[in-house]
Amino acid sequence: MPALIDINHLYDLSGKVALVTGGAEGMGAGTCRFLGSAGATVAVADINLPWAENTASEIVAAGGSARAYQVDLAHEQSVVDLVKGVRADNGRLDILVNVAGLQDREFLEETSVALWDKLHHVNLRGPFLTIREAAKIMRADGNGGRIVNVSSMGSVHPIFEGLVAYNASKSGVNGLTRNAAYELAEHGITVNAVLPGNTTTAGQARSPGPAIDISKLTKLTPPLGRTGKPSDIAGAILFLVSPISEWMTGQTLTIDGGHLNS
Ligand SMILES: NC(=O)c1ccc[n+]([C@@H]2O[C@H](COP(=O)([O-])OP(=O)(O)OC[C@H]3O[C@@H](n4cnc5c(N)ncnc54)[C@H](O)[C@@H]3O)[C@@H](O)[C@H]2O)c1
Repeated sequence: MPALIDINHLYDLSGKVALVTGGAEGMGAGTCRFLGSAGATVAVADINLPWAENTASEIVAAGGSARAYQVDLAHEQSVVDLVKGVRADNGRLDILVNVAGLQDREFLEETSVALWDKLHHVNLRGPFLTIREAAKIMRADGNGGRIVNVSSMGSVHPIFEGLVAYNASKSGVNGLTRNAAYELAEHGITVNAVLPGNTTTAGQARSPGPAIDISKLTKLTPPLGRTGKPSDIAGAILFLVSPISEWMTGQTLTIDGGHLNS
């Protein structure tokens, strides 16, 4: 090891193609900006095509490389077409980041099968499908790969009420992460998850559900004194898709301002 290490090289994604779901806004858009800034060509995928196009246009206008794609993660063929399309358009696929998710809330006894299925289709089956399709391509191309799933702090510890279906779907994401990591390791493909704590986004604020009884919330402000920002999560994702973390797989990394540590 040299006395001084080229740190920039360890975060350099030049020549890499990254597919990010949920890139229209919030953490997904932030992740697209981080990966684009590190040199990756970013496929900004979302059900909301106009906003995905905004994210891609901003990256291109700033000198990066990006293109928007429409996908509905609840539909298998839509996911299959997305992943194949990104590989066909760009000639390779090195990185997959599953950020898209629904955050609808409902109390346990009011949770319908329809709500349960909706959250599981987008939050858990969607990432399963993107990983399945990306893994086929990454294995065939033989260049290894990086996969990151956005789970939630609530997948390991309940914080808000009304998140039974949501947190169950995210707990599934943790299991998906560990098992995919185990199967894909021999092909040089790493799979990790980030577990954000309460992160302020417009999408979270818009999410439907009953009013939360603030008096029942255990700890509103984490020890670091503020809620999360999309860049807090995007930075951890950049680490997990960069050369610097190449010997790390199957991990669930909590980024919550110290909430679960208190
Ligand atoms: N905000 C938080 O406090 C928080 C905390 C923990 C985990 N998370 C998770 O982080 C991720 C991003 O959260 P956010 O607050 O930035 O969310 P957000 O609502 O701002 O963004 C989610 C994106 O997913 C897209 N999307 C929804 N359904 C889709 C579908 N069927 N197909 C394709 N795209 C679809 C939306 O259009 C949107 O652009 C989500 O998976 C969320 O569950 C959020």
